[in-house]
Amino acid sequence: MINMKVSVAGVEFKNPVIAASGTFGFGKEFASLYDLSVLGGISLKGLTVERREGNAPPRIAETPSGMLNSVGLQNPGAEYFVRHDLPELRKYDTKLIANINGNTAEDYCRVAEIMSAADVDMLELNISCPNVKCGGMAFGVKPESVLAITKTVKPYCRKPLIVKLSPNVADITENARAAEEGGADAIALINTVSGMAVDAYSMRPVLANVKGGLSGPAVKPIALRMVYDCHNAVRIPIIGMGGITSGTDVAEFMLCGASAVQVGAANIMNPMAMPEIISRLANYLTETGIDDINSLVGALKV
Ligand code: FUM
Repeated sequence: MINMKVSVAGVEFKNPVIAASGTFGFGKEFASLYDLSVLGGISLKGLTVERREGNAPPRIAETPSGMLNSVGLQNPGAEYFVRHDLPELRKYDTKLIANINGNTAEDYCRVAEIMSAADVDMLELNISCPNVKCGGMAFGVKPESVLAITKTVKPYCRKPLIVKLSPNVADITENARAAEEGGADAIALINTVSGMAVDAYSMRPVLANVKGGLSGPAVKPIALRMVYDCHNAVRIPIIGMGGITSGTDVAEFMLCGASAVQVGAANIMNPMAMPEIISRLANYLTETGIDDINSLVGALKV
């Protein structure tokens, strides 16, 4: 028997593969294709206090080996989600992570309060969204502000707190340490890399918002390096993400120090990506004779 179970900050996942926020909505569309109970977990579309329409279209663009998005945190509002979407989602045997957002520290605290009272398993403080004018990445660039926002929100969290970090910084390990010092129970990295696409014929940016966040296989080497660096910098668990499309990609992130992973852009390219990745991960463990997936964490031979 191969053990695929992992534990992150005391929360047990049946396998380490979690849907990344913003690429899986609230699961409805995928539930018509496969049983969501096969997933380790789902990080829900980012929630704010109030309903948001997001940025003007076009707000998604395909790029070589990746995609840009500038969605702008479109969501129905945290309370609406809890009343209308959560009960259906909770029927699946998978862990749920609420991704919390805001314009101000007070907003983040309020969403943390609402989602702490709801039936979710963990909270993910999103201080790395590059697509909003207020809040988002503005809280996640400097270590001092990562420390301050984590410390401010933590008392409102009655579930383990993950802090989701931005790669658009000078040294991500400083921000990882700041999150740990502020009380984070885990960190997630990387959110998208700030980027843009240009149409040479119209001579315009492809995205209406001009800039967006790059994800997909194009960012995987950056993400692996950052997970590796953070694993050597903090003691709290790491959820790694950035361009995962296969079972061996999951293993690579775990070897660099991730205790679990999130899969994002792959869900948009192939809606069956996550069940396929989970079954290929099991094949990889069989092929390599590994009976406990946890033995991969940080086991890179350097
Ligand atoms: O624009 C968005 O909704 C993206 C959010 C994020 O990258 O965290």
